Amino acid sequence: MRLNKFLASSGIASRRKCDQLITEGKISVNGKPVTELGIVINEKKDKVFYEGRQVFLPSSFIYIKLNKPKGYACTASDEKGRKTIYELVPTEERLFSIGRLDYETEGLIILTNDGDFANKVAHPKYSIDKEYQVTIEGEIKESELAVLRKGVVIDGERMPTAKVEFMSFDGKFTKVSVVINEGMNRQVRRMFEAIGKTIKLLKRVRIGKVKLGGVRRGSWRDLTTEELDSLVRSE
Ligand code: URA
Repeated sequence: MRLNKFLASSGIASRRKCDQLITEGKISVNGKPVTELGIVINEKKDKVFYEGRQVFLPSSFIYIKLNKPKGYACTASDEKGRKTIYELVPTEERLFSIGRLDYETEGLIILTNDGDFANKVAHPKYSIDKEYQVTIEGEIKESELAVLRKGVVIDGERMPTAKVEFMSFDGKFTKVSVVINEGMNRQVRRMFEAIGKTIKLLKRVRIGKVKLGGVRRGSWRDLTTEELDSLVRSE
């Protein structure tokens, strides 16, 4: 296995960042610093060290989808002491999320201990679709949806275009489906704020071809081989 893939899969950093660590002489293999890029190691035999600690690949890879409830942070340890999504998954493994959701947002999160996979799938260049169900109070006009589709302007900057579809109105709340490719901070909330609407409930229901499906709030499930392949294929 290539050294940078080994390091990235172990969760050190993205492959590119790992290449940087290699050229900076921060990685050693079998006791010798390695600064050459592209070297291949025997991941079963060779001993790789970073900052004086041996680097290990996870013994087996985990890929799961979690239905994050609102009121959970997506960080490993929250500086405000709030509950985190990692408390919902019973494993000692270090897991990475593919993109994050705000504290108040619920829905689909993909978690894995395969750092290389997480970095690749989250990379903006693959621009995987993310679908959200947005609930707002009151009604929304077709002209407002059109503004969201074109990309609202926030602080002089145009937000990317989005696929926006009216779903339902029950006399009190409107549901809208929004599909975006990017993962800008609080992107969906900011889009709706820009047209003067406050989101009551924001839920991610799909990432690429992986749907939240029947996973109950606070529960998780392994990704099927098909779901996993679809994410890798969207590279
Ligand atoms: N957009 C938001 O505003 N919040 C999220 O959690 C995800 C997308």
